[in-house]
Amino acid sequence: MQYGYGKLILFGEHFVVYGLPGIASSIGLYTRCQFHPNENGIKVRDRLTNKNITLGENKREILDQTMQIILRETGLNGKSFRLEVDGDIPVFGGLGSSAALIVSIIRELNGHYALKLSDEKINGIAFKAEHVFHGNPSGIDNTASTYRRLLWFEKNMSGGKNKIELLKLKKPLPVVIGNTKIIHDTSEAVAEVRQRKEKNPEKFDKIFAQAKELVFKARNALEKGNIPKTGELINENQKLLQEIGMGSPELDLLCKTSLENGALGAKLTGAGMGGCMFALCPDEKTQEKVAQAIRKKGFDSYITSVGV
Ligand code: PMV
Repeated sequence: MQYGYGKLILFGEHFVVYGLPGIASSIGLYTRCQFHPNENGIKVRDRLTNKNITLGENKREILDQTMQIILRETGLNGKSFRLEVDGDIPVFGGLGSSAALIVSIIRELNGHYALKLSDEKINGIAFKAEHVFHGNPSGIDNTASTYRRLLWFEKNMSGGKNKIELLKLKKPLPVVIGNTKIIHDTSEAVAEVRQRKEKNPEKFDKIFAQAKELVFKARNALEKGNIPKTGELINENQKLLQEIGMGSPELDLLCKTSLENGALGAKLTGAGMGGCMFALCPDEKTQEKVAQAIRKKGFDSYITSVGV
């Protein structure tokens, strides 16, 4: 059984699609994949999305297309097996569930067939497969899921290697994830930002310049262990995401609730327009309080930490 982990984008979602830097971390929520022998062909059951496929039967099915890419890239075409996937990561919520799914499948096949794939290779295959889900992904999700660390990410806009730097923190950061339970389609959200950017280039150029500066400041604050400053920058990043139209009333409510209950910063994470947000907390007691306050409003919350 192999695992793929979800991720939080701490800073820079959407802007990373255009080559600006982003900071992301894997989290404890996961998908896991179990290999079983099978006589004839390939079957995959994904309990997270309730999808059950027999490879090749419905080529329009996303899971089928994902598997075709994985088989091509690993050279496993023609094999027969059955995969069972489950986990605890909410799907279509901004926590990188598709990347986690893909990474868990590649890792399980890698182990079973002794393919000896490096993390770099696994990440490369996962990036190709992510295109099926996200159209034009930056690669930040599969990178965080593969490396299972806090990292700095810059997409190479010429198609070469992306810049990935593992970041070290003095202490892990206590966070709470809030889930609006409104599912979103990442490729639609990314397309929406592109349209808005094309319609209003001057406004967006200004926002993008601010977003870039902010990520550098955030890295500095994180590496210095300046948690209050990190919280302030999280709030600023949230404002920029609202300005590009990725907020929602539910996300606003969860951010406000978190801040009112002692969080130092709160923002959406992932594509936005619903999905998940996270709140940076000063300590475990506040984490509990924020998580409960979110639940009291009728939403889901998860306690986790980043930068472990
Ligand atoms: O909502 P998610 O988990 O799919 O996150 C997507 C992050 C974006 O920056 C919006 C897109 C991308 O590919 O980086």
